[in-house]
Amino acid sequence: MTATTVATRTERMHRLVGEIREVVGRGLPPDLTAYLVAERLAPHLGAPDLLTPEQCEGDPDCYRLHLLHGEEDGSFSVAALVWLPGQRTSIHDHLSWGATGVHLGEECERRYRLISDGRAARLIATADVVSHQGEVCGFAPPGDIHRVVNSGTGTTISLHVYGADVSRLGTSIRRTYRLPAEED
Ligand SMILES: [Fe+2]
Repeated sequence: MTATTVATRTERMHRLVGEIREVVGRGLPPDLTAYLVAERLAPHLGAPDLLTPEQCEGDPDCYRLHLLHGEEDGSFSVAALVWLPGQRTSIHDHLSWGATGVHLGEECERRYRLISDGRAARLIATADVVSHQGEVCGFAPPGDIHRVVNSGTGTTISLHVYGADVSRLGTSIRRTYRLPAEED
């Protein structure tokens, strides 16, 4: 992943950050916060005035993260992720609750469970979820292991809100996981 921090936010993004701040400020449990933030994301997805042209630019080498906002008190951050066709994340989980929504294109999320037989732990794929423009999702650890791929034929852009300040932590990822090559 390549990452950039942007200084410019659109007026619509400014409004969305205010809506997220209101939800996060309620101090609700992480899973409920994630679902309510996802609900706030939905009406903005696909709006042509949500992102600047620079915030929609990808990277031919790897999916790209544009950090759009880090809340002063570290309680949340907002990023736009740009995926060219076929680009994907590692299998990973997260440091905090999160809410995502597809702004452009489509993505496929594969969800996993980590199971242990007492001697060794391994991952089992539990679901493939394809999301299109306007669709949102909320999650909260534990049990949030997944990987995401742009499964469409064009650029995919998704909005991500994390319950942590990614600008200070450098990442939203708690841990990455490896699968045997034939299962990936
Ligand atoms: Fe993730």
